[in-house]
Amino acid sequence: MNFWETLPRPVIGLAPMDGVTDAGFRSIVARQGRPDVIFTEFTHVHDVCYGPEHLLDTLIYSEIERPIVAQLYGNDPDLFYRAAYAVCELGFDGLDINMGCPSKSVASSGSGAGLIRTPELARAILRAAKRGIEDWASGRTLEQAGFHPEKVAAFHRINERRGDGARGERRRAIPLSVKTRIGYDAVMVEPWLEQLVAEHPAAISLHGRTLRQMYRGLADWSAIARAARVVGGTGVLLFGNGDIQSLHEAAARIRETGVDGVLVGRAVLGAPWFFKEKERTRKFVQRTNEAGIERDEQDVPLSRRFAVLLDHARQFEAFYGPNRFYRMRKHLAWYCKGFPRAAALRARMVRVSSVGELESILEDYLNDRLPITMAEAGEDELKSVSRCG
Ligand SMILES: Cc1cc2nc3c(=O)[nH]c(=O)nc-3n(C[C@H](O)[C@H](O)[C@H](O)COP(=O)(O)O)c2cc1C
Repeated sequence: MNFWETLPRPVIGLAPMDGVTDAGFRSIVARQGRPDVIFTEFTHVHDVCYGPEHLLDTLIYSEIERPIVAQLYGNDPDLFYRAAYAVCELGFDGLDINMGCPSKSVASSGSGAGLIRTPELARAILRAAKRGIEDWASGRTLEQAGFHPEKVAAFHRINERRGDGARGERRRAIPLSVKTRIGYDAVMVEPWLEQLVAEHPAAISLHGRTLRQMYRGLADWSAIARAARVVGGTGVLLFGNGDIQSLHEAAARIRETGVDGVLVGRAVLGAPWFFKEKERTRKFVQRTNEAGIERDEQDVPLSRRFAVLLDHARQFEAFYGPNRFYRMRKHLAWYCKGFPRAAALRARMVRVSSVGELESILEDYLNDRLPITMAEAGEDELKSVSRCG
């Protein structure tokens, strides 16, 4: 039985976000609210197979994140075949293929959402990845699949660091899934999903925008409802995605579209407690709690907000070391909204370089010693994250 089949329904998961859902963020989300499933940021299949070791950072995770699914992107079935071995060897619970990234650098090369225009290639990629998973599970080694021994050693270092050095010895086939959009230039849910369903992935996550829309306009949940009808009865799970701001809204979307669950992305930024009340949400959807979710967990007291923020920063430093702390800045700023002098604090957050510095800034804030400059200088940094799905 694959892990998707064991999840409670409806499934409420954390969407993959490049530059955001790194191991530090995912582990704080897992500890604060425990979504039903978590995805890594996407990683290019070429980087998995041939890239320098630091490009494997996106595949670092901790046990608390399970079930954890690795997301890959690219346009070459052979590389997907091989990269699937690595995902299995690294002990992930599932492999997801990105067919939704609209960014020019990805889609114009025919990867990500570019695959919506080449369904035959998309299907060949799914078949190749599935074959890679099955061959690994039947005992073929990474070296037999063409990996350089140094690369294999790098995968094993990642496992050892997680305290699971023997992971590669326990072999079982993991499920394959796809994350995509409702079309390329225009909505084309039926023909596109029929192509995907024909390859029997375990699950499809559907962002309710076309590639052309990028992140503009609103997600089209009526197209997602149509997709639920295409996928219904095929054994493939369908998750809707796009613009969900609260668990209350998640419940309403699930009820009105008949999807098997939802993925939530941007609403979790600076709010890793987002999923905390998901059991109540489930009861509401199953109509065993008609009172609904009266209050979402977004009104967290400042003391808790700061405690979580500090915990998150410490997690990040533990995973990636002090030299890359700058990548934590946008997260710190996302926590600073909706309370007095949040803008002043945000302006400091986007310059902070260590946990020690962060602690003293928070102390200054709490003791009213933070200069109120209202500098918006950090806003550019907040806008600079890429958006790949
Ligand atoms: C900063 C950012 C990075 C993203 N990176 C990925 C990615 O690596 N893979 C992917 O499938 N989708 C990616 N997405 C798309 C999200 O998974 C999701 O489909 C989209 O944000 C809509 O959901 P939301 O409105 O709940 O955020 C990204 C989105 C954002 C905002």
